[in-house]
Amino acid sequence: MIGSLCAMKEFHDDSAPAAWAALGPLMDLVTPMALRVAATLRIADLIDDDAVGVDALAERSGTDADALARLLRHLVAHGVFAEPEPGRFSAGGPARFLRSDHPAGMHASLDLDGFGGQMDLAFTGLLHTVRTGEPAWETVFGKPFWQYLADEPHIGAAFDATMATGPEYFADAAAGYDWTNATHVVDVGGGIGALLAEVLNKNHGLRATLVDLPDTVRRGGRYLAERGMAGRCEFAGQSFFDPLPTGGDIYLLSHVVHDWSDDEAVAILRRCAEAAGEHGRVLIIEGPGTANADPAAFAEMNLRMLVLAGGRQRELDDYRALAGASGLRVTDTRTTPLGHDVIECVTARE
Ligand SMILES: C[S@@+](CC[C@H](N)C(=O)[O-])C[C@H]1O[C@@H](n2cnc3c(N)ncnc32)[C@H](O)[C@@H]1O
Repeated sequence: MIGSLCAMKEFHDDSAPAAWAALGPLMDLVTPMALRVAATLRIADLIDDDAVGVDALAERSGTDADALARLLRHLVAHGVFAEPEPGRFSAGGPARFLRSDHPAGMHASLDLDGFGGQMDLAFTGLLHTVRTGEPAWETVFGKPFWQYLADEPHIGAAFDATMATGPEYFADAAAGYDWTNATHVVDVGGGIGALLAEVLNKNHGLRATLVDLPDTVRRGGRYLAERGMAGRCEFAGQSFFDPLPTGGDIYLLSHVVHDWSDDEAVAILRRCAEAAGEHGRVLIIEGPGTANADPAAFAEMNLRMLVLAGGRQRELDDYRALAGASGLRVTDTRTTPLGHDVIECVTARE
């Protein structure tokens, strides 16, 4: 009741302060960019335990001292860095999360020279996306998303590493399906194999084939070898729009279908259906959840997929329709504790 009264009051208040109170927190580009610039310049790495003077910091970071001081004071005002004495800055508070070796990985998410920062910069092209329905990535970076990753190996490697973070999520996704009757899982668009490693680790009788673009599969070979699993894996560096390796009984598509438009998703699913044959299964894993379960996460991911690569976030009924258009039929769906949708399909003849 109180909430709805407040909403009505805001709705009827057309003053400038009310407008700023409602939209101001959503409008600011200064602070998000300031944070990213501080991360990119590794300012938190350059500050020792004690506060460091701005001239020394400017020299260490190759920046202009006056501009750097203004940047840091803005972030001091937001509680990220501190200025214990005029012109000297410390990084003991939240700024420590920006250190490049901090396990939370915030630096990688914010670094404008890396994948995380570039993904955010793609949103400078959002107007183009909304006007045209096309992904903004190509407008901002000059090439389509997947082409850019292939042509910029350090960004491609950073993308693969980003996809492989969050062990809790892989454990949750792997536990969302009963693998006991499977013998050979083909992970299609499997990245460097982080989910595959979790599945193999929990299911000792399983073998696997990792399918992804050639550079990613090479990185996947190293990743799985480091975990002692390369002997149970085959590797196929190829496009999933081409015929897939046969012989698997599960064709896994984890966080792949949402990267693509309906037509492209159907093309990938058809390749899986064709390779799975009459007795195989196609397993789609997507997240985060459905629009009902987490509307904010769903809406953000839906926009993100469009801006980056022209994909979309989908509801279970959308997956049923895609499966139907691909010669598949959904036989089981479940949602895991962390909000993954696990959708099992078989060929429609079965
Ligand atoms: C969002 S990632 C998902 C990675 C992994 N399955 C996971 O759940 O973390 C999508 C994957 O699709 C791969 N990919 C993109 N285009 C591809 C293509 N044409 N053929 C094969 N793989 C492709 C990317 O390299 C990337 O590893």
